[in-house]
Amino acid sequence: MAQLIGCIGTSHIPAIGGAIHKGLQQDPYWKPFFGGFPPIREWLGRVKPDVVVMFYNDHGLNFFLDKMPTFAVGAAPQYNNADEGWGIPTLPPFKGELDLSWQIINTLVEKEFDIVTCQEMLVDHACTLPLKLLWPEGDCPVTVVPICINTVQFPLPKASRVYAMGRAVGEAIAAWDSDKKVAVIGSGGLSHQLDGERAGHINKEFDLQFMESLQSNPEWATQFSIHELVEKTGTQGVELLMWLAMRAALTTGPASGVRKVHSNYHIPISNTATGLLALEKIV
Ligand code: DHB
Ligand code: FE
Repeated sequence: MAQLIGCIGTSHIPAIGGAIHKGLQQDPYWKPFFGGFPPIREWLGRVKPDVVVMFYNDHGLNFFLDKMPTFAVGAAPQYNNADEGWGIPTLPPFKGELDLSWQIINTLVEKEFDIVTCQEMLVDHACTLPLKLLWPEGDCPVTVVPICINTVQFPLPKASRVYAMGRAVGEAIAAWDSDKKVAVIGSGGLSHQLDGERAGHINKEFDLQFMESLQSNPEWATQFSIHELVEKTGTQGVELLMWLAMRAALTTGPASGVRKVHSNYHIPISNTATGLLALEKIV
């Protein structure tokens, strides 16, 4: 059976793509952000996952406001990157993991999640930048199963529903008849708001409590309604739902404990409080 090795939660911001392109990793503005990644890369170099299941939100590239699935799972042999409008250079295509895609899709539908399946899917910065940050050199060494969660257009799925979906994805991975190693990524958050009267809103206290909860009490954030999460973290801060799905995927199996590999938190990059957290699953 496949082995679920751990998870990585990270913020995504289009400007990171520009900074990578311009080689600004050591620049004083960017260093506190990029500096969080080497210990996690070192861990990944040791545990060597073959596949990544990527929870992220599409930002109007593959889905626009006229057709917005709550949950969508990629089932494509390859995912092409495109720019949803920020002008950041695109990355080469990412390889899919079709067998795991269908394993997840079949499991989710069996467990009564009415998902959209995408046999073609363009991926935006939220899917591609975490992969580039974790494997900056050369071709991306992992295959990918992208899973989109709508945090763009209301109504958004409740935190408890996202948690249940993430857990079902974890069960699907654990039951996958493969000798491959799988890591789960949650791409989004933490607190930020890009528009409206509260543009620039950041909530460090909540972010740090949320990151801590993922180690000690992963269901903690499910107590909040979507409106409470938006109030606390901002209209885009609600992207932290990706981290919740990611962590829920690790709660399956006889041993559901985790060990912290590394974390980082830095305010701000662009408008966002950036978080980074890697947890290894204890088997
Ligand atoms: C920013 C953050 C995001 O999550 C995003 O999708 C776009 C922009 C920002 O802080 O600039
Ligand atoms: Fe975003």
